[in-house]
Amino acid sequence: MKNSLNERIDLINSNFKKYLSPIYPELIYEAMGYSVFAGGKRLRPLLLIGACEAVGGNIEDALPFACAIEMIHTYTLIHDDLPAMDNDDYRRGKLTCHKKFSEDIAILAGDGLLNLAFETMLETASQKRDFKYVDAALTIGNLCGVKGTVGGQVVDLLSEDKKADEKTLLYIHDKKTAALIQAALMAGAIIGGGSKDDISKFESIGYDLGIAFQIKDDILDVTSTTEVLGKPVGSDDKNNKSTYISIFGMEKAQKDYKELSERASQKLKDFGDGANFLYEYSKLLTDRIN
Ligand code: IPE
Ligand code: IPE
Ligand code: MG
Ligand code: MG
Ligand code: MG
Repeated sequence: MKNSLNERIDLINSNFKKYLSPIYPELIYEAMGYSVFAGGKRLRPLLLIGACEAVGGNIEDALPFACAIEMIHTYTLIHDDLPAMDNDDYRRGKLTCHKKFSEDIAILAGDGLLNLAFETMLETASQKRDFKYVDAALTIGNLCGVKGTVGGQVVDLLSEDKKADEKTLLYIHDKKTAALIQAALMAGAIIGGGSKDDISKFESIGYDLGIAFQIKDDILDVTSTTEVLGKPVGSDDKNNKSTYISIFGMEKAQKDYKELSERASQKLKDFGDGANFLYEYSKLLTDRIN
């Protein structure tokens, strides 16, 4: 697993290079590349190619979308770290984009990555002349916009300096984080030629994995160290955020996190041997420390 995980990460990273080779004005490519290549677990692209494989598809077909979803994720991180949002100075073990470059360039690097993601997906659809790529792009588009990540980030900000109710907190976790994880799995299954039933199974697995992932992110913000995380701990406390811990307490956070992770892993078993990678990876995620 370890080898094949690293091989997959290398495959994703080597595909990225062709999208980010600098042309004029080089500065924006530098800023985009700085954040994309700063590191990162590559969770969403790994899920995307894993779901494609689980339904019997060819991983190669999914690579442009794997890069696209990581571009979208990286744009959300660059904007999330801005002074107007979480105001954090470190990300992926390096200075945040706005600290390394400047605030204006960081905003534009985020815009550039979001747009490049859709250019990449639509170019693939156009070249392949296959509507499944349009469906996959639409799925991602629906889940990363106002009905997904953007909406979740808005409610996250509106819930600072107050105690969100339980329903609102779940909305935040669902939209700001689970939505893109669902998008990764569903788009991968669509590209792999999965059935409607496969895609809706991945929607449900993505919800469980995604909520679990954000609960763990909230836990690590309290219990980890900046060195291990590569981003500041205590960021939520500093911004007086509504988190899974501040609303439900640490004990319930730990319990729900484990239950949701386990439920997601069990559901992956429905896909049989094709989902072996995803199953093992979901187990690794459960024990993640960063
Ligand atoms: C961080 O995501 C933002 C959240 C949704 C919690 P990751 O923990 O996947 O960050 P990277 O990509 O590994 O840096
Ligand atoms: C992450 O929420 C959500 C998005 C970036 C979309 P956080 O604000 O908790 O993420 P980190 O902890 O800064 O990575
Ligand atoms: Mg945030
Ligand atoms: Mg943040
Ligand atoms: Mg966080």
